[in-house]
Amino acid sequence: MPAGILALGAYAPAKVLSNEDLASFMDTSDEWITTRTGIKRRHVAAENEFTYDLAEKAVLDLIARHGEAALEGVDLVIVATNTPDALFPNTAALIQHRFGLKAAGYDLLAGCPGWLYALAQAAGQVETGLANRALVIGAEVLSKAVDWRDRSTAVLFGDAGGAAVVGRVPEGRGFRSFVLGADGSGAPALHMKAMAARLPDGTRMNDRIFMNGREVFKFAVRVMDTATVEAIEKAGLKKEDIHLFVPHQANRRIVDAARERLGLDWAQVVVNLDEYGNTSTASIPLALKEALDAGKIRPGDHLLFVSFGAGLTWAAAVHTWGEML
Ligand code: ACO
Repeated sequence: MPAGILALGAYAPAKVLSNEDLASFMDTSDEWITTRTGIKRRHVAAENEFTYDLAEKAVLDLIARHGEAALEGVDLVIVATNTPDALFPNTAALIQHRFGLKAAGYDLLAGCPGWLYALAQAAGQVETGLANRALVIGAEVLSKAVDWRDRSTAVLFGDAGGAAVVGRVPEGRGFRSFVLGADGSGAPALHMKAMAARLPDGTRMNDRIFMNGREVFKFAVRVMDTATVEAIEKAGLKKEDIHLFVPHQANRRIVDAARERLGLDWAQVVVNLDEYGNTSTASIPLALKEALDAGKIRPGDHLLFVSFGAGLTWAAAVHTWGEML
């Protein structure tokens, strides 16, 4: 039996930083940020709020929406994050404990596509019977990882968490395809130090997020196109069959390039980056939740997800929506 999303929750911290707020302490402007990225505001974690907290609140939101029973039978927790609170223990183990689950747990680090990578792992394990149900979380506190003196990256990111329960779904529903990719030759374009000072090619790494925006932009436009086309083909569908496109919320210009290549109207594209900026692994679940709440998704709809990020990595998936728990 196929696997699919059965429940969803998401959370963004209360504190908001507008473009005007940023312009009050760095050399930037609302006009520059809006025209280059489409971002107007981003939500940032409080001083004592970290990735675990946002992951927990995303799961609490999932429970509020679907009931306590939504976590019944969950025996696998995967937390995709690029900003773990610790190198160890992994965040998933802490979530397992918090919600009293009898489950395996591990974190997954794959740049912004981490949540899609984690969904692929969860779906594969559910389909083969290795797992019964999986709790798949994406959570980030990028505001604590950016260099606030670097205006070319600091303005792009925000904090959030998203969570989904993946389990068996009837034939004709759930995930129809996954496309996952990595190209480590692009590592120098986007990195942040942990234990080592340098990348294998000798690039000295920053303590905070370093990004070559132009390089990542070109890469993003290319892989958003190739990965989506491949995912649609693998799903046995055509571009015209896609009802809703839920892309990684990094930059409106990147989303627009993908939208045009897919021949979609803006009404078929979920965009909330104006409000949240790039929340990395939390970006797609947060956008998906807003689309659900806006009544944009009906059972039987074919949804297309795509993301790109540090690694460099990319991922795309097609999911036919079904009944939720
Ligand atoms: N405010 C004002 N000016 C700025 C700012 C700012 N916040 N940031 C940069 N500038 C300046 C630059 O200094 C440069 O000035 P110069 O011409 O005098 O040198 C000028 O604006 C143009 O800079 P570019 O880098 O050419 O601007 P570009 O049009 O490429 O847009 C951007 C930059 C928005 C970063 C774009 O390249 C982009 O979106 N790239 C993709 C980033 C992305 O999506 N990353 C996701 C990573 S996901 C993950 O896994 C972490």
